[in-house]
Amino acid sequence: MDSLSSGPVAEVLRRLHQEAEAADAALMQSLASETSSVEQAMRQVVEAEAKDLTGLYHGYADNFLSVSPTFGRFLYMCARSCKARRIVEFGSSMGISAIYMAAALRDMGGGRLIGTDLEPSKAERARANVTAAGLGDLVEFRVGDARQTLQSDMGGDVDMVMLDGAFTLYLPILKLLEPYLKPGAIIIGENAFAQAGGYIQYVRDYQNGYLSLPLSFDPERGNELTVRTK
Ligand SMILES: C[S@@+](CC[C@H](N)C(=O)[O-])C[C@H]1O[C@@H](n2cnc3c(N)ncnc32)[C@H](O)[C@@H]1O
Repeated sequence: MDSLSSGPVAEVLRRLHQEAEAADAALMQSLASETSSVEQAMRQVVEAEAKDLTGLYHGYADNFLSVSPTFGRFLYMCARSCKARRIVEFGSSMGISAIYMAAALRDMGGGRLIGTDLEPSKAERARANVTAAGLGDLVEFRVGDARQTLQSDMGGDVDMVMLDGAFTLYLPILKLLEPYLKPGAIIIGENAFAQAGGYIQYVRDYQNGYLSLPLSFDPERGNELTVRTK
C-alpha cells in the first residue's frame, strides 16, 4: 500500500500541485524568456545569491518552486527503498516535497522529517499543508537560515537528505549534516549544478565518501543522486 495513490495525501498533493502551477506560471514564463540556457540561468542565480541571498528568496515568498509530481514520487520511492526513519530537507517552501517524503515515513510506520525554510510565511503554509495531509505529527519545520537551523541536534542518524534551497549552499549544508549521515544514506540535490559552489565536484569525488550520478530522467534540471559510502 502507498498513501500517494488515494486518500488525504493524494488529494492534498493534487490540490497543491494545481495551486503551485497557478502561483508560479508568470515567474516560470519570465525566467524562460529572460535566459537562453540553463547555464546562463544558473550564472544569474549564483550572482544573485552572492549579492543578497535572503532578499532573493524573500522575493519568492509567494512562489512554490516545488518539485514535479514525478520527482515527488521519486522522493517517496527513495525514502521507502532506504527505509528512512529520519529525513532532513533544506528548502521546504510550502511543503510539497515534504509531504511526499513524510508519506513514505507514514507508510513505513513512522519517523521524523526535519524541514527548514527562510520564509516564516512559507513554513506556516507548509505546516498547514502537512497537517491537512494527516502527516503533521511526523514533520518539524525550522524557520530561518538553514546554516543556523540545521546546526542544532538532528536527534540521531539521518537516512536521507533533500537539498532544495539556495543553490550555492548545498555543499556547506551537506557538510553540516555529514556527521549524522548513516552509511548508505541517500542525498538528493535538486538543481545541483556544477557552477554552484563545488557541491557536484565534492560528491563525485569518491575520496569524500560518496558515489554520485546525475538523474537521467531529469537531466536538464541538474538533479543528482548521491549515496554515502562510509
Ligand atoms: C525550490 S524551493 C523548495 C521547494 C520544496 N522543496 C518543494 O519541492 O516543495 C527553495 C526554498 O528554499 C528556501 N531557502 C533558500 N535559501 C535558504 C536558506 N539559506 N535556508 C533555508 N531556506 C532557504 C527558499 O525560501 C525556498 O522556499
